[in-house]
Amino acid sequence: MGLTARLKPGETIADRIMKVDHAGEHGAVSIYAAQRWMARWRVPDMVDELDHFLAHERRHRSVFAAELKARGKPRCRSFHLCGLGGTVLGLVTSLLGRNAIAATTVAIERVVLRHLEQQLAEIESRDAAATAALRSIIADEQEHHDVSRARLAAPSIMAGVIDRGVSLSTEAVIWLGMRL
Ligand SMILES: [Fe+2]
Ligand SMILES: [Fe+2]
Repeated sequence: MGLTARLKPGETIADRIMKVDHAGEHGAVSIYAAQRWMARWRVPDMVDELDHFLAHERRHRSVFAAELKARGKPRCRSFHLCGLGGTVLGLVTSLLGRNAIAATTVAIERVVLRHLEQQLAEIESRDAAATAALRSIIADEQEHHDVSRARLAAPSIMAGVIDRGVSLSTEAVIWLGMRL
């Protein structure tokens, strides 16, 4: 299945993917920074893990920022929306506690990993630098997913609601970023 995007003049599909993923990583940084802030008193034993994830997301964001710079492309118009949305999501879920934090990460990374596969299929024969950028983050995202999946307690209504809401909003942000 091909990706649908509304490209600007002079923009390639790989350029657009770098923009959307850069904004998405900014969202991820914002989520973990907010969760980490709240976790200090809500779930202090999770702070180290959130710090570990946060360091990864900062690296991912800088990988895509460097790609945009090399291409002479601006950040995505959705950049600040991603940051704001991520902060709100991170604050709300970390108030709800450890299960909500884990459910959020599982939902996001499941969607992200699927999109990364689609993006790779789209560009790997056309853009070596963008392909390398995507490949350099997959193992981290898989780790975030797997560690959080293992943390999730038995299925609950709250975890189900978070899973549905977070995966829909992640899909919506990616969809929007490809069209802005
Ligand atoms: Fe990331
Ligand atoms: Fe991640």
